[in-house]
Amino acid sequence: MERSLDLSFVRRFFPGLTPEGAPPLVLFENAGGSIPCAPVVEAIGRYLSESMVQLGASYPRSRAAGEAVAAGKAAAARLLGTSPEHVVLGASTTMLMHVLSAALAPLVGPGDEVVVTDLDHEANVGAWRRLAERQGATVREWRLDPTSASLTAEGLAEVLGPRTRLVCFTHCANVVGTIHDVPALAAQAKAAGARVVVDGVAFAPHRRVDAKALGADLYAFSLYKTYGPHLACAYFSPELAEVAASQNHFFLGPEAGHYRFEPGNVNHELTAGLAGLLGYFEDLAAHHGDAGDPLDAGFGRFAQHEAALVAPLLAWLAAEPRVRIVGEASSNPAKRVPTVAFTVEGMASRALVEAADAAGFAIRHGHFYARRAMAPLGLADAEDGVVRASLVHYNTHEEVARFLGFLEGALSA
Ligand SMILES: Cc1ncc(COP(=O)(O)O)c(C=O)c1O
Repeated sequence: MERSLDLSFVRRFFPGLTPEGAPPLVLFENAGGSIPCAPVVEAIGRYLSESMVQLGASYPRSRAAGEAVAAGKAAAARLLGTSPEHVVLGASTTMLMHVLSAALAPLVGPGDEVVVTDLDHEANVGAWRRLAERQGATVREWRLDPTSASLTAEGLAEVLGPRTRLVCFTHCANVVGTIHDVPALAAQAKAAGARVVVDGVAFAPHRRVDAKALGADLYAFSLYKTYGPHLACAYFSPELAEVAASQNHFFLGPEAGHYRFEPGNVNHELTAGLAGLLGYFEDLAAHHGDAGDPLDAGFGRFAQHEAALVAPLLAWLAAEPRVRIVGEASSNPAKRVPTVAFTVEGMASRALVEAADAAGFAIRHGHFYARRAMAPLGLADAEDGVVRASLVHYNTHEEVARFLGFLEGALSA
């Protein structure tokens, strides 16, 4: 079904794309961080100006503030496809992985094995490597397939064993944008008796997440890349929570639920702001006349628009003899998100990005904290890395056309 996205309507929700008085900027650095949508910004402001009292007291304003924060957590739960009592919020995905890996110490003992990948952002690698080290367990590295720049079932089979306790991998590679078949890979890991940790950071801004249906025991993503504030959220299954050690005060027992994994509590105003994300999707659905779940409808439209957006960029790059696309070359939305990595023969990635800076395009180069992926992807200079242009649903065809014009000039200079 053809489902277009009304971009002039969408962009009204993102005044931060064109702040008054600022020089124009084509924002293709969205995998680094997206612009928050206006209802989020408004909800944060409202909380700060009207509700900023201590939570948990019995006076009415404290109760109202608690309700606003709870509504924000419920919004994160909707985005994860779960219920609020299974959600852990944190300052960032890196922090969540740090806290939850510490919590999962009882799951991993001497002689056990923990699988991590060489494709992931380090947030979903380092914490688990450190856990294994502390517990006397062995780290097994699931290596990426250099031809497809992705993680494969064959690669997983090589590192799975009877002592595998955890398999930690990315839903979508943040450097190259390739989407993995999480249900199949999770089922493979579970058949070996392992628990599954999925980093959904590069996936969640583009597609609907249903953490449980994906087969993840822990699924995390960063809300500041998903049109929200600088926070992250995770689905943490009740089964994992039951074996996990509390990371909060000693007097907070099992009745405290997932608050045991939110030491210091959540950021109140930013959490309250999350309710605005649902408002955005509801407004999108109403405007486009979509029935059913507004998140399903919105992400469905995003996927179609993004595929159409990235197709000419990939086609241009593929036709340019000096360019190597790193990763999936097709724009098929089942295979990739519109995060595109490439290198140019005879030109440093840094040089191209500096030229883009001067021309009003926000792109970036480097390893994007997926440092371990650089050598297997054939990138000898990890710091120079790849050039990455990362688009989201609020980007326009006109912006892509302008970027292609810039690339033409920069590569022929
Ligand atoms: C795939 C992926 N995982 C994890 C992270 C880390 O997220 P955070 O900044 O919330 O710690 C990033 C950030 O770029 C990412 O792209």
